[in-house]
Amino acid sequence: MDSERKMSIMDINDLENKKVLVRVDFNVPIKDGVVKDDTRIRAALPTINYLIQKNCKIILMSHLGRPKLPDIEKKYSLEPVAEHLKNLVDTDVFFSPELVGEETRALISKLKPKQILLLENTRYNPGETKNDPELGKELASLADYFVNDAFGTLHRAHASTVGVAKHLTAVAGLLVKKEIDALDSFLKNPEKPVLAIFGGAKVSDKIKIINRFIGFADYIAIGGGMAFTFLKSKGNPIGKSLVEDSMLNEVENALQTAKSKNTEIHVPKDFKIGHDLDTPFLENNMPKVVNADSIPNDAMGLDIGPQTISDFNDLIDKAHSIFWNGPMGVFENPLYKEGTLSIAEKLLQKKTKTIIGGGDSVYALNMTLKEKGLSLPPEIHVSTGGGATLEYMAGNVLPGLEALDNLA
Ligand code: 3PG
Repeated sequence: MDSERKMSIMDINDLENKKVLVRVDFNVPIKDGVVKDDTRIRAALPTINYLIQKNCKIILMSHLGRPKLPDIEKKYSLEPVAEHLKNLVDTDVFFSPELVGEETRALISKLKPKQILLLENTRYNPGETKNDPELGKELASLADYFVNDAFGTLHRAHASTVGVAKHLTAVAGLLVKKEIDALDSFLKNPEKPVLAIFGGAKVSDKIKIINRFIGFADYIAIGGGMAFTFLKSKGNPIGKSLVEDSMLNEVENALQTAKSKNTEIHVPKDFKIGHDLDTPFLENNMPKVVNADSIPNDAMGLDIGPQTISDFNDLIDKAHSIFWNGPMGVFENPLYKEGTLSIAEKLLQKKTKTIIGGGDSVYALNMTLKEKGLSLPPEIHVSTGGGATLEYMAGNVLPGLEALDNLA
């Protein structure tokens, strides 16, 4: 997939006064009707401001969460996002309580150039996730152009990402362009040595990308819950730690292939342990650290230990291109945050070409920036995508990107 072939919003030269339907990814955390983290909303501002500058009538649509239809749970409403957006743009923002229908059409007909209308959650409509062709057509009938700026949702073939694009000139927004350019540049032209750091609970979520990085990366560091499936496949006792037995064969194959392709796979040498997620295994009032081959039967590994932190830091020191996705431990518990935060801090100090993707890693990075009073170096690209980033980096086609018009 090559973003250079795709049209972007910059390639449309008659945008003035047009109605533009923009798919954004406003899938943001909301608590008690208040947006808790607006990173994804801010990431869409360059496109929104560009359209304001061009005097467009801007119609935004997004999903939020995964509502279980036919229930329309209020907690998945985008209304709080419309309220939040009002503080971020210098124009009027209106909200439509439906995605398509008479009310939406009436609101669009009243829209003046530069004004914004945010439509209600695309996933309240049963046709959205089924990519219902009728819904795609109906969405397209609302506007003159379709812009997809929802990078985090490009891996979903839904009516608001793929269906709608069939009926209108469909182009990438500035966020999609920036993200794809950053990922392409990493994949096509990485300065060696390349290091990939993978964490998180499940190997099954990451095995495709791990396999893709074997042969491409010089080093792969594995942390988080998925490390135990690697350790078990090497014959280590893992106590009560998280494991995916169904992935043992895949992991063994990956370890074998890595040897033949000169990719070093590094697994943790030590862990901080607990009796379970809520009961730490204490020693001198701190979680006990044990070697990776000595996890007691009644304990589970919950964070990488100091030796592993030092090993992974050494790999970061050696690498010139780094991709990081997934936490090293249960970092939302302060007892087990050190592994993940130390990776974030080391990457911020290293200032080499780095891509960080996935909600947890980005959250840990932001925590570190705040706690240490640091600012984000330009060498680090923080991706707004979770699944979309992994899919693209694993070499898979993103249907939402594929659906956009090619440059002539
Ligand atoms: C994300 O949060 O990764 C995107 O918004 C996609 O959400 P989804 O996994 O519910 O499709």
